[in-house]
Amino acid sequence: MNARTILIEGAVDSELSALIERFKPEGVHEMGGGWRVLTCDMAGGRVALLNTGVGVANAAAATALACAALNPAAVISQGTAGAHDISLHTGDVVVGTRILRLGAYRSPAREHGVAPLEWQMLDQSGDTGPVREYASDVRLAKAARTALTERGYGQAGNPRALDGTIGSGDVWNCEFDMIAHLNARYGTACEEMETYSAASVCDRMVVPFLSLRVISNNERIGESYAPEVAAQLQRAVGDIAEALVKGET
Ligand code: 5AD
Repeated sequence: MNARTILIEGAVDSELSALIERFKPEGVHEMGGGWRVLTCDMAGGRVALLNTGVGVANAAAATALACAALNPAAVISQGTAGAHDISLHTGDVVVGTRILRLGAYRSPAREHGVAPLEWQMLDQSGDTGPVREYASDVRLAKAARTALTERGYGQAGNPRALDGTIGSGDVWNCEFDMIAHLNARYGTACEEMETYSAASVCDRMVVPFLSLRVISNNERIGESYAPEVAAQLQRAVGDIAEALVKGET
């Protein structure tokens, strides 16, 4: 397929619907397992949209299939996330400059009781350390910041866009103390369920990777899940993808 294919991933329909409306994809590429890529050709290349499904296994499988089938020039993993940083509000965007795995732990031996705050993170190798981290590609992160600034992020009264650490795993934390603990120990700005596995597949397949998340909830300040904010992020994501296809960045 085209050398400049920009693959955009979301995990649920609402994380892709605004992009589908914008790009009006005409191509459909079935990859097996029910995963399909929608493509939109344009001067310079194409934008490809992929609904991975929710969670680690879905994101890994779908990303691997799509990278093998499309050989994309970049993968943009985007969608909603719950804040760990108490200063983040619904609508703010985190550029994933550091990507950590959550939900894979080894507990110290203990005859009675449970102490989740003492669990140690597990690496993909099965060891407790050092735990592998991933990051967004530096050039793609720069293009993202430019697009977000052009969309008005950071201006008075608007949502903010900032670099941050994304915690990623098959977990949805709502306990204030656990959220505060993860934020304090690992510096996580937010959590979601797909980024780490997509990033690890892209790393293996040597595909530049960009992580963008819009805050959809911040439990500790009483902002409950508002999945509709996914549409706001998709505007900037569409701009980034178009600029990349056109070779403008
Ligand atoms: N914890 C985990 N995942 C979240 N998501 C949004 N908020 C959270 C949260 N607080 C995202 C996941 C998943 C989708 C249902 O919402 O990435 O794909």
